[in-house]
Amino acid sequence: MKIFLDTANLDQIKQAVDYGILDGVTTNPSLISKENQEFMPLIKEILAIVPGPVSVEVTATDAEEMIEQAKKYAELSHNVVIKVPINLEGLRVVKTLTDLEIKTNVTLIFSSPQALLAAKAGATYVSPFVGRIDDISGSGMGLVEEIVQVFYNYAIETEIIVASIRHPVHFVQAAMMGADVATVPFSTLEKLLKHPLTDIGMERFLKDWEKVKK
Ligand code: G3P
Repeated sequence: MKIFLDTANLDQIKQAVDYGILDGVTTNPSLISKENQEFMPLIKEILAIVPGPVSVEVTATDAEEMIEQAKKYAELSHNVVIKVPINLEGLRVVKTLTDLEIKTNVTLIFSSPQALLAAKAGATYVSPFVGRIDDISGSGMGLVEEIVQVFYNYAIETEIIVASIRHPVHFVQAAMMGADVATVPFSTLEKLLKHPLTDIGMERFLKDWEKVKK
């Protein structure tokens, strides 16, 4: 499973690149606004640091304007993926961008038919938001399971990005279900590495090493 970081924070992205585990980054307008920086210079820097795909979201609501925005972003770098919301305008945008060989990530997916329609329009990725479904007492990972099955049934090549991940269990389930990508906040990435037995084991090894005649 590929690991993307769900952030626009440069320090976090640089750290994940240094750890050697980063396959890509996803951003959205809320994550960008948290950084309190000018949009274009920030996104250019992210694109330069990240070795893989970086999702940049369009903010227009009309298809023609979304396409104009998308073309402008796509010119920035080879690794730009255009994030498009799932609605009728969004589908038109995905079709046009696919014809132009511009990669897309269809976002705000909350049902399997939405994912199937996005895939049929040519989406490179679909992003089901699992945490937000759990927030309203639904099953976010149940939706991922459904999309994995539907895409498998029809050999659909669109990749599934499990998004709105809130904790390591979402990550583990995504991997068990065979999702293509998990996009995680930095805090979840750190938690993935933690295990109390690893810490206890390290402490014991270091203590015992002190007793060794050297
Ligand atoms: O990529 C966007 C998605 O991950 C949003 O997450 O935590 O705002 O529901 P969240």
